[in-house]
Amino acid sequence: MRENRRFAPPAALAGAANVTGDAYAAASADRIAFWEEQARRLDWERPWTTALDWRPPFARWFSGGRLNVAVNAVDRHVAAGHGDQVALHWEGEPGDTRTITYARLQDEVCKAANALSELGVRAGDRVMIYLPMIPEAVFSMLACARLGAPHSVVFGGFSAEALRNRVEDARARLLITADGGFRRGRPNDLKTAADEAVAGTGVEKVLVVRRTGAEVPFTAGRDVWWQDVVDRQSTTHVPEYFDAEQPLFILYTSGTTAKPKGILHTSGGYLTQAAYTHHAVFDLKPDTDVYWCAADVGWVTGHSYIVYGPLANRATQVMYEGTPDTPHRGRFWEIVQKYGVSILYTAPTTIRTFMKWGDDVPAGFDLSSLRLLGSVGEPINPEAWIWYREHIGGGRVPVVDTWWQTETGAIMISPLPGVTACKPGSAQAALPGIAADVVDDSGTPVPPGGGGYLVLTEPWPGMLRGIWGDPGRYADTYWSRFADQGYYFAGDGAKKDEDGDVWLLGRVDDVMNVSGHRISTTEVESALVSAPQVAEAAVVGATDPTTGQGIVAFVILRGGAADKGAVLAAELREHVAREIGPIAKPRQILVVPELPKTRSGKIMRRLLRDVAENRSLGDVTTLQDSSVMDLISARLPSASGED
Ligand code: PRX
Repeated sequence: MRENRRFAPPAALAGAANVTGDAYAAASADRIAFWEEQARRLDWERPWTTALDWRPPFARWFSGGRLNVAVNAVDRHVAAGHGDQVALHWEGEPGDTRTITYARLQDEVCKAANALSELGVRAGDRVMIYLPMIPEAVFSMLACARLGAPHSVVFGGFSAEALRNRVEDARARLLITADGGFRRGRPNDLKTAADEAVAGTGVEKVLVVRRTGAEVPFTAGRDVWWQDVVDRQSTTHVPEYFDAEQPLFILYTSGTTAKPKGILHTSGGYLTQAAYTHHAVFDLKPDTDVYWCAADVGWVTGHSYIVYGPLANRATQVMYEGTPDTPHRGRFWEIVQKYGVSILYTAPTTIRTFMKWGDDVPAGFDLSSLRLLGSVGEPINPEAWIWYREHIGGGRVPVVDTWWQTETGAIMISPLPGVTACKPGSAQAALPGIAADVVDDSGTPVPPGGGGYLVLTEPWPGMLRGIWGDPGRYADTYWSRFADQGYYFAGDGAKKDEDGDVWLLGRVDDVMNVSGHRISTTEVESALVSAPQVAEAAVVGATDPTTGQGIVAFVILRGGAADKGAVLAAELREHVAREIGPIAKPRQILVVPELPKTRSGKIMRRLLRDVAENRSLGDVTTLQDSSVMDLISARLPSASGED
């Protein structure tokens, strides 16, 4: 859909905006000084000596400076007299609620930090967190930050196998999990998967939050209940201060190989950018706004825009445990109405789902408290953008489309709500202090109207510091594509319009984006070939009207494995769910006799994508050699040797 309307900021918002257009000029006059000024938004025990130490591709920001991230997110607000302000309005899926003030948050984080110390966690130790969306997830992350022990949160929807891989890669000592959480009206068990994941690893202790009350397996000597160990701790904990480059967290994300990458983030630079971008892009007024980021803490959006950015800015926020359709499809809007949410941040796939459910659902609630809407995770189509503005924002609320990645740590490209005239479907311009461009194959910037690859041309404070345990892969993945120019290659295609605004076009590598989640084709392929029935597999992401992309798998069966149609498809889908998690289940599985390959043996995914997108196919279709190959070869370029 084409949409040429522009939406200027509402006068009231522009008049009182946290950040005005001057920020662009200030940042381009002296980018490093600009970030130093933003770093002063935080409390430092000792100031930095060098703002940026850049030995490409390795950066250190605010070297010599010392701070405690948890103190910045919690204690300093209590010390400044805001202890009674609500930090979290938590809403459980069954309707139970908890109200946590900053004073209470400080108590809980201190108790958790004391408990982790008692369980043997020291600065530098890795702690895995595998929890539902409950306040203990926030307490745990901040307790780790307080101790200088990097956390690695694994989304609760990942399987035992996926968790085990991450536990082993991070060489974690302790895992924090729960008996389960509520999703879709039912308690789901996390503990059984957690047990399977840690068996035989270096995990010495498992700290278990009681959430659902379900009977779960418990290993004496290794497992301890949160309610037994944390609740009896002192609410006092004297914080230690750490270097700005102290590792804060490792977050695993899919790359182009089967092995997820542990993206490493550190403290001072990350927190500076998370806090600044949250202040600038969401225009948060801590005394009046109620902010809600509807992501899960298991993703980077939850790290930067539920935990670190908003709490550093003293936000009052909503945190919701469950799904948008439980117990009814108006649940989100009921929550907005109940708490008077003024800023909402969610993903295009969720917005498209709401569109499908119908305009009358949000129309049944009072959404007049909203004043700003955000989108993240995948390109937002103009139709969804307009629907979001009209039906959620009452036709008066700005929508900011924010582009960033697990690797960037915080928002990089986005409108500023008090400055930018928004264009539906475009993330528009790099934020002040950020340098991005769209370049061609040779690394030359494309002219207005041109398309190419999105690159980041200068280091930024929240940038990943590496891939855990694999500096070579870090340099190779992100910095080798445009090595001559020294650009960071994001893996996204983009175009620049006549005004120089950026439009994201999706991944250019073998990474799919399903409901805003990154899943690599290779990861799903390797899960499929680990099934006894499968000899070979090729996976593509095909355009999907709701999820952005859907996973389509082409499999060749092993000799002797019967193609049992829908039964086989169901078995393979379950197998992938066990290996990776339900989010990676293929939408369709097609049994084929052959896969299209280049002479060098590389699967031509582009052709498979054509097949997957151009025909409406059932769940399992046994394609005859001739029909699928004819269809595919009809599309083969006449030139040979394409690679
Ligand atoms: O392809 C881009 C897409 O999501 C990728 C990053 O995924 P992840 O690390 O999981 O982080 C998602 C949340 C920050 C990017 O390479 N992406 C993210 N935001 C947008 C987007 N694509 C287009 N527009 C966006 N606003």
